[in-house]
Amino acid sequence: MKNIDSISHVTGRSLYVDDIPVRTGTLYGAVFASPVAHGIVHGLDVSKAEKINGVEAILTAADIPGENQIGGIIPDEVLFADGKVEFNGQPMALVVARDELTARKAVAAIKADIEALEPVTDAREACEKDMLLVPPSTFQTGDVESAWDQCAHIFKGRTESGGQEHLYIEMQGSYAYLMENGHVKIRSSTQGPTHVQKAAANVLGIAMHQVEVDVTRLGGGFGGKEDQATAYACMAALAATKLEKPVKIILHRMDDMRMTGKRHPYSADYVIGLSKDLKILAYKATFYQNGGAAADLSPAILDRSLFHSTNTYYIPNSKVTAYSCKTNLPPNTAFRGFGGPQGMFIIESAIAKAAHELNMPARMIQQKNFLKEGDHFQYGQVAKNVNIGKCYQRADEEYHIARIEKDVEKFNEANQWRKQGMALMPICFGISFTNKSMNQARSLVHVYQDGSVGVSTGAIEMGQGVNTKILQVAARTLSISPDKVKVETTNTTRVSNTSPTAASSGADLNGKATEMACKQLAKRLRRTAATLLSEKPANITLQDEQVFVNGVKSQLCWTELVKKAHLDRVCLTEQGHYATPMVDFDKEKSKGHPFAYHVYGLAVVVAEIDCLRGNYHFEKVLMVHDFGNSMNHSIDMGQVEGALAQGLGWMSMEEVAYDKEGKLLSNNLSTYKIPDIYSAPREVQCVPLPTKGPKEAILRSKAVGEPPLMYGIGGYFALQNAIKAFNPDHVPDFNAPMTMEKVLMRLYQ
Ligand code: MTE
Ligand code: MOS
Repeated sequence: MKNIDSISHVTGRSLYVDDIPVRTGTLYGAVFASPVAHGIVHGLDVSKAEKINGVEAILTAADIPGENQIGGIIPDEVLFADGKVEFNGQPMALVVARDELTARKAVAAIKADIEALEPVTDAREACEKDMLLVPPSTFQTGDVESAWDQCAHIFKGRTESGGQEHLYIEMQGSYAYLMENGHVKIRSSTQGPTHVQKAAANVLGIAMHQVEVDVTRLGGGFGGKEDQATAYACMAALAATKLEKPVKIILHRMDDMRMTGKRHPYSADYVIGLSKDLKILAYKATFYQNGGAAADLSPAILDRSLFHSTNTYYIPNSKVTAYSCKTNLPPNTAFRGFGGPQGMFIIESAIAKAAHELNMPARMIQQKNFLKEGDHFQYGQVAKNVNIGKCYQRADEEYHIARIEKDVEKFNEANQWRKQGMALMPICFGISFTNKSMNQARSLVHVYQDGSVGVSTGAIEMGQGVNTKILQVAARTLSISPDKVKVETTNTTRVSNTSPTAASSGADLNGKATEMACKQLAKRLRRTAATLLSEKPANITLQDEQVFVNGVKSQLCWTELVKKAHLDRVCLTEQGHYATPMVDFDKEKSKGHPFAYHVYGLAVVVAEIDCLRGNYHFEKVLMVHDFGNSMNHSIDMGQVEGALAQGLGWMSMEEVAYDKEGKLLSNNLSTYKIPDIYSAPREVQCVPLPTKGPKEAILRSKAVGEPPLMYGIGGYFALQNAIKAFNPDHVPDFNAPMTMEKVLMRLYQ
């Protein structure tokens, strides 16, 4: 089935926050943000700004009736700076004016009196100074210290991976207006409507039931709107409440880039020990996460880096410690993979290092250490339905890995100034929120008198197709045509206490809740049909909008049945509540069963470099991906291709650059390059691994949103191998992204 939004998207009719028709009297907000990364605020001179014709108000921390606090996991994040600033781009005031241009003009007329302090932008430096957002976290298994003696080879190294800008097409934004009795309605581009509701209530000093958050869809989130949409929603709500007028805030691209956090850069030290026959016996690592100025989601992201620190390998002895470091950068946040990619890049770097030292392809080591059925993960969970071996096997059948390797060698022999490199990237990604309580969702299903159906859930549509999947679940469970089903906006008054749409679990959680509600409705309608046809309910089935008795089609159709049920006062509304069974994790011990299941896959990546110029392209990416029993192949393939491009971008061309003063240099699309159609791999193939899929996944169709991003990590190593083919003296280093400049320097190292 096609994505239900495809026609409105391509015809420009899909609605985003900025497309909502504005109400009379709407005012526009623009944010004044700190021009320095660290300092003491002595004052804010708004005298010039105030006088500009059309400026209605300039709001600061002093105007907040409730609490100046929007922190999610820990309350360490103010809405407006108060007394001090901790990052360049930190909101200090909101100008509200009759039009957008005036608001921006007024922002430019504000002067802040800030006594600048030394900023810290480096995670290791912050750690040395004990600037941590939360206490460090350690995962371990076996006894790594006593394992070194058994190792034939031990290698050490350091890795760095950079940040990544989300670059959602729709910028952060919100539109808020008062309803009656001081109730406020917020239209927000957020992945977490309940978080927005809770934070806005806190800022306004009112109860959550006085705040309604409504989300139609997002023009992309990628994690960047899981937490960071909240500030702008709260500002709009505050201004709307204060001025009793509708207020809209939409960030401009450069402000959005400067003011919001990104994927966390990580720096890490590792030691890896292998036996003579290439079994990884021990792995020890320390991660330094650059968290930025507030915790945001950093602690949870840190945990996922640990969960995925051994990727898809079984390592009997390991110990990984991670520090979430507080720096004077915008609070870094969720980004597709949620810390998993960072953890995986480090173990893959360690393996690449070992392979280089032992003078063999990394795949010899990768393959030897693949997780097997019944192995336990570092965090205690026993691995079930392990598919990585099968993915490798399937990839070899489909793509002939040894042949690709040979072809690359042949190419390199035949070409002096162009070199290719190949790398394998296996993945294993756990599905579920690692915070147990977030693994729940609700769905509210109405069957209307005419037989049409409306479904409300907590899921946010952000391009990933979750609404299409929910619609499919409802249509399939009720056995009616998809045309009869509508998925409503996500609204906190219809479905409450939602978890953010994240962790790739949006479709699983909200789909399961929808399935439960629809099953109940179907059961009730079968009972009505049984009464109408004087049959036993057990003999009745609903199929393709028709009632069947003992498998024989009756005269009664879906529409007629619904109409009669309503006349008979049968309830045609149902709510489903789903809580993922089995998941549990003891944070104290760092052990448990945190994931409902894992997604596996393997990519073969071939890169080709121009050895005179250092520029490159990806020649092929050939994947085997474990979709389970995909319920929507075209949507899932779209997720694979998009995530792959995003992963390759992170590893190759996307370079977030701050200067020493903590000012973002790559603050525009002219200085921050993301993959475009010209930098897409020349050949992309993905075959599904044929499996039944786990019952924990909705309709046995596995979550797909994040895992394929990590195929992109293979891009780094493919480039590194191509460099080695040209410059045998090159000592591999692990410092992503591998930009073209870096490639050139390494070619002639
Ligand atoms: N795909 C599109 N087109 N746009 C997005 O913003 N976000 C990704 C992924 N795919 C995203 C996307 C992220 S970070 C997550 S966690 C999942 O979608 C969330 O949606 P799901 O839980 O429904 O898979
Ligand atoms: Mo996705 S990073 O979990 O929003």
